Amino acid sequence: MQGRVLSVASECVPFIKTGGLADVVGALPAAMATQGWDMRVLLPAYRPLRKYLADMEPVWTEHDLFGGAATVYFGLQDGVSLMLLDAPHLYDREGGPYSGPYGDFWDNPQRFAALSWMAARLAQEGVGGWRPDVVHAHDWQAGLTPAYLRYAGVWDVKSVMTVHNIAFQGWADAGLLQTLRLPVSEFHPGGFEYYGNLSSLKAGLVTADWITTVSPTYARELMRPEFGMGLQGVIAARAAQVSGILNGVDTDVWSPGREEISYGPGKMAGKAKAREALCQEFGLTVPGPLAIVVSRLTDQKGIDLLPDVIPDFVAAGGGLIVLGSGDFALEGAVQALADAHPGRVAVKIGYSEPLSHRMFSGADAVLVPSRFEPCGLTQMYGLRYGTLPVVASTGGLADTVIHASPAALAAGVATGISFHPTDALAFGQALAQLVGLYADQKLWVNTQKNAMKHPVGWETSAAAYAALYQRLIG
Ligand code: ADP
Ligand code: GLC
Repeated sequence: MQGRVLSVASECVPFIKTGGLADVVGALPAAMATQGWDMRVLLPAYRPLRKYLADMEPVWTEHDLFGGAATVYFGLQDGVSLMLLDAPHLYDREGGPYSGPYGDFWDNPQRFAALSWMAARLAQEGVGGWRPDVVHAHDWQAGLTPAYLRYAGVWDVKSVMTVHNIAFQGWADAGLLQTLRLPVSEFHPGGFEYYGNLSSLKAGLVTADWITTVSPTYARELMRPEFGMGLQGVIAARAAQVSGILNGVDTDVWSPGREEISYGPGKMAGKAKAREALCQEFGLTVPGPLAIVVSRLTDQKGIDLLPDVIPDFVAAGGGLIVLGSGDFALEGAVQALADAHPGRVAVKIGYSEPLSHRMFSGADAVLVPSRFEPCGLTQMYGLRYGTLPVVASTGGLADTVIHASPAALAAGVATGISFHPTDALAFGQALAQLVGLYADQKLWVNTQKNAMKHPVGWETSAAAYAALYQRLIG
């Protein structure tokens, strides 16, 4: 065995998910096991997760964890070496991980400081003979983990801070400093102070031994003001300890050969059948390319551009199915598109894994017009399913899709279409190109084949994380 890692996060598939963070945290333990690393995941025992506690073992009790008693449980669940932090006063609530029926939980700073505090304690003391060599903190919710370790003077456990999305920085009022057990001496611009408040992500960024983000391009983008969202200077100052390691996808779960209507690069007839079934499910008849969007409906994802570009796309023969939920206004905007183009555009507001599988199987293209995208997973599902990605050229989207430029097409290496900047003009042109490519079936099938061959699994990235951990522990 190479070593032990405690992965600390607020989401993890298959237990709790609001976005790609959960997929990545859930996939890493198995991916790292192939590299000989023993990774455990520490998660809060949110209400829907408490059912697991019965067959887990209590391994740690804390009498006062930010206002109440807490117990850490350990056990193997769904193939993951899971540690659940049961602190009912913080996590046993109705709703999702961050919000309830009345909006964001008022004490989110405390809730996730508690997670980080516990992680640091477990790392410092070890539990049942298991002490990690590395703690791997994901996003702001775990950002205080490296900081608590540092402030406690623990140097022999190394820390990695991974940024999945810098838009969420874990701000809290400076008045909470003592409540959150943070040292006043570190409340300065070189510490966790952020424009008069405190930021748990910044605390992680300034104290971790290493910073990673989820694609090489986003790692560079983060050092620029357009993308760094105020933290660009902090990251640039540590440029020598920043790397971008691309996410993978679970190729067992995302596999056209395992779908109900199955297909593969050698036998594409199944994809045509899946398309037919999908069109039937939504009552669509689409002569040109059938595109999909599977996404949180937010500005980050460029969903607001759809009303500007879809009418022309439909006029050119295209069709669209949107699956997602999020901003109320954006939900309304995509619904209005469907109403305006019956038989061509359909929308399903909500969240559904099975439907998303049917969509990737049956569609011709997946649209990801993000304004920024640390990595992005759906363009990789698209590659794997021969559902050509049409993406904004940013972050991980830029790192995973080979644009169908004349040169790339001539060389036979294109895997999708990418456009820049993220605006309606460039997006509209990309869709026009999609229609043209679809009309040239020979080029289209070639591009599909390239896409399906493109590696999207975890192998390369797991090796990169392993090399990083190894370097850190020396
Ligand atoms: P982000 O984490 O920023 O939302 P990613 O592309 O990294 O973006 O990950 C999003 C994940 O959530 C993917 O696995 C995607 O398939 C899934 N997803 C998003 N919205 C839905 C939905 N409405 N139904 C099913 N899956 C969804
Ligand atoms: C974030 C990003 C997304 C990334 C995911 C997993 O949610 O928005 O681009 O794929 O984290 O790293």
